[in-house]
Amino acid sequence: MEKIINSAQLEQVRTIEQKAISEISMESRPAYHLSSPVGWMNDPNGFSVYRGEYHLFFQYHPFSNVWGPMHWGHCKSNDFVKWEYLPAAMAPDESYDAGGCYSGSAIEAAGEHVLFYTGIIDRYLEDGAHDYRQVQCIAKGNGIDYCKYAGNPVITGENVPEGSSKEDFRDPKVWKEEDGYYLVVGSRAEDGYGQVLLYRSDDLKKWEFLSVLDQSRGEYGKMWECPDFFSLGNAYILLVSPQNMRAKGYEFHNGNNAIFLYGSYDRPTHKFEREKITSADYGLDFYAPQTLQTSDGRRIMVGWMQSWDAKFMNDFLDWSGMMTIPRELSIKNGQIYQNPVGELEKYRKSKVEYIGKEITETTVLDGVSGRIIDLQVEITEFHFHHFSIQFAYNDEYEMLLQYNYIRKCLTIDRTQSGLIRDVVCRRKMTAQPLVSGGLGEVLKLRLLLDRYSVEVFVNEGEKVMSSVFYTPMEADGIVFDTDGTACINVIKYDLCV
Ligand code: FRU
Repeated sequence: MEKIINSAQLEQVRTIEQKAISEISMESRPAYHLSSPVGWMNDPNGFSVYRGEYHLFFQYHPFSNVWGPMHWGHCKSNDFVKWEYLPAAMAPDESYDAGGCYSGSAIEAAGEHVLFYTGIIDRYLEDGAHDYRQVQCIAKGNGIDYCKYAGNPVITGENVPEGSSKEDFRDPKVWKEEDGYYLVVGSRAEDGYGQVLLYRSDDLKKWEFLSVLDQSRGEYGKMWECPDFFSLGNAYILLVSPQNMRAKGYEFHNGNNAIFLYGSYDRPTHKFEREKITSADYGLDFYAPQTLQTSDGRRIMVGWMQSWDAKFMNDFLDWSGMMTIPRELSIKNGQIYQNPVGELEKYRKSKVEYIGKEITETTVLDGVSGRIIDLQVEITEFHFHHFSIQFAYNDEYEMLLQYNYIRKCLTIDRTQSGLIRDVVCRRKMTAQPLVSGGLGEVLKLRLLLDRYSVEVFVNEGEKVMSSVFYTPMEADGIVFDTDGTACINVIKYDLCV
């Protein structure tokens, strides 16, 4: 590959971020979740394997803790747990992306790392007209430096079906099949509702439009952002992040959601037949997830652990935004399961275990506390209406996970986490105890805490709730409580990364 010469704009960002990374203490960051090097981060981008390593890019505004002209930040990992920051990969420095380098994906092809992203054209023409469009572009690189393709953009609004939006046309996700490369991208149909367009190419540069893979008819939000499409077991999954959704019971919530559309796919006609839809995460902070496939065949998903609608800024950190733990997806009885990557287990230390512990009142268990932990709680007897776990707890602060056995409902609540904005603080979902042959009911909870976040995996990954909270590290207590009698098994590990 020829030597890549970076723009002055990108070099400036790289200088700023290098200095910032060395000045921001590691203790002010999550220990095993990727956080922004400096400034603002949103969507995961370019989640891919290149030369045997996992690369993760992200939407990035390094100049402040709020969203601004989008760059692509960059990092890599060998195990999805320990992340190494790399220099920012792209700045909005070309005429076709001067309004921002928006979300996209990456693929390894002929030894090169090829990035796909949306360029934002946002300018005023000589006649005063506003020219706003979103176009799909590529950049090729060696894992550190990336050169934008001279023929950009590679897909424009000229190559969308009749009536589809040229203004809302973004977030390309590319993959390879035996007969060529495929790509899905989000758009809006003539009626204004979101749709996913499918394209095919032989060389990653010339793209042929194939079909509208699926679309909302108003029932699942407006613009569909950040599509991904893959097979899982016998099903095909279309993963999208719709804007402007309406809550349906506990299944979806108002605003920006991420949803799995389960279905079947007929390759010859490029038709996807949708059969079922579920939320990808039932917590407060999860959006714009993207997946990759590892060489051993695992489908791994990572999401932005924040929400556009309920976003709030901490005012004491120099970074803003983090990703979830990458999660392994599997499918059982027609249902997607998500579990933290197995690699996390090698960082578990100092096991503390309680088996058959009866809880009848407010209870603290010796050795069960901390803010960087892997905590498993199994409820095995249910003589109560409510059972709760307060964590990140002290006299002033708490995070609350509460199970209502009568309603079979699990609530996550950050009301007492020191927030001073009136953002959404509580979310509920149904959670049925598992019935294990002869042993009665059991509800399995696994909480991953990492300084400023929690991810609650329920019943071995059947459902997940993710939430961020920004409280002082001294709030590290864990308290169990119930209005009746519960019997629990607890295993706690420190996570030492
Ligand atoms: C989703 C999103 C994408 C877009 C990016 C801009 O969170 O709105 O559709 O590419 O963020 O930062």
